[in-house]
This record gives sequence, C-alpha cells and structure tokens, in this order.
Amino acid sequence: MGAITIPDLYIQQPYDLYSDENHKTWRTLCQRLLPRWEVCANERFQAGIQSLCLPQDHIPRLEDVNRFLSPLTGFRARAVSGYVPAFLFFDCLRNREFPTTVTIRPADRLDYLPEPDIFHDIAGHVPMHTDPRFAETLVRFGECARTAAALVSEIRDPLERTHTLTSIFRAMARFFWFTIEFGLMRSRNGLRVYGSGLLSSFGEINHAVASPNVQRLPLQIEQAVNETFEIDRYQPLLFIVDSFDHLYSLVDELERWMNAGRLNHVAPGEPEVNDVDLRSFLEAGS
Ligand SMILES: [Fe+2]
Repeated sequence: MGAITIPDLYIQQPYDLYSDENHKTWRTLCQRLLPRWEVCANERFQAGIQSLCLPQDHIPRLEDVNRFLSPLTGFRARAVSGYVPAFLFFDCLRNREFPTTVTIRPADRLDYLPEPDIFHDIAGHVPMHTDPRFAETLVRFGECARTAAALVSEIRDPLERTHTLTSIFRAMARFFWFTIEFGLMRSRNGLRVYGSGLLSSFGEINHAVASPNVQRLPLQIEQAVNETFEIDRYQPLLFIVDSFDHLYSLVDELERWMNAGRLNHVAPGEPEVNDVDLRSFLEAGS
C-alpha cells in the first residue's frame, strides 16, 4: 500500500445524515457563543462571521461556506472523515485547504469536547481564514512542515532522525496550539481571542480574557515551544501577539530556529507524538 496522498483524505460532506438534533446543537452553540464573540473575539473573526454569511439555525454546507471564503483568501474547507496525520494536515494548509471534521458533538456535551467537530472547525477556525494575513500565516505553517521533513531526511542515523523529528514536531505542535488554537491578541479595547479552541468554547472564551487564574504572557518562541499543554482542562497559560503581522513574523522566526537546529531538543512532555504523525513526516521527506 502506498503513502496517503492528499486527495484520498477528502470525502463529501454527508449532509443528509445530519439529524434535527444535530442542527439544533449547531443552533444552540451559535446562540450561546454569539454574545460572547461580540465581547471577546478579535474583530477580524467577527468580520469573518459576517462575510461568510454563516447560518445560525442549521449546520452549514461546506460548499456554501467556500463560495464566500475562497474569493477572499483562496482557502477552502474540505471534509475529512477523521484524523489527518500531522504532515498531511500542515501540507493541506500550504495548499490553502482546511481539513474539516463533519460530525457534530453530542447534544449532552455542548460545552466540552477535546476532539474537533464541525462547530469547532467551521465556526471556530474558518472565520479567521477570511483574513489575508492570517491565511498567509497558515500557509507558512505548512511550509515549516516541509522544511522539517527535508531537514530530518538528511539525518542518516535512524534513532537520531526519530529523536530530532519528535522534538521539531513537538515544537511545531506547541506553537500551533498556543497561537492558532489558543492565541490572544492585543487590541484597542484590550485583549481579544483569535485562537479557535477558545472561540468555539462557551466556557473558556470568557475565562481566557477575564479569569485571574490565567497567566497571559507576550508570545516568545523559546517559551512556547518548551511549554506543555493539556487538552482536557482550561489553559492556565496563554500567549499574546500584537497583530497578525506579528504572528506571521513569529512563524518565520520559528522556521529560522528550525533551520538552525534550535528546535532539536525541546522540553519533553505533552503533546505525545504518535507514530502515524512521525511517519507522515518521514514519508514526505523520503
Ligand atoms: Fe482546531
């Protein structure tokens, strides 16, 4: 069996399989989050919600979302049936395609879900993809993954290759987590959320900007790539960027650190790096 190629990842969104209860779940989540987005979300996210004409009363069809999205930045949401190995995920971003979960969370678990669902992916992520600078930043993440695959492919010793790749990938995953999923940004009106994990969480979005139990620090690469994160509780530490230009420049810097070998020995700990993710980078570099 050959390596998975990107077209194999994608499926048709099985729209007719959504139940009334599924649509009701989407509706309830929108009703809960809309007032919180007005207070806590970055203004580019709020503009994105408007320009995508996201429906609030039913689960959207991805083709309808893309009709508004792709003229703005070239990005498209593409349906996938499950987990996408890490290198392929980043390479989709490089191609301006966003692997999108099509299932929605159960009605009795509205507030907390560690794994992505269509509400997280479409309502949490995709509005940010309408912003050109943010979109470029995602593409840069994809290019960083290519750089990582090329760098480790030059390491002859298999053990050293795996160790180095594990460290570089852990650094990338942490950096992605603390920015794209859980990032905060300064604004004229104080701190605002641009990270999708926060934007799709009714409980955590307020907590992120207002709770005294959260440390909020200016984003520095050295700290972010060595900081562990846990996906099953509210984040006690979040990082702030000044602007989307600033975020883009930090991904550039991350790649420079990678090329200089400065991500080869980051602190162990979460996230765990699995064989499927490692293999996806090794196959890409071979
Ligand atoms: Fe996400």
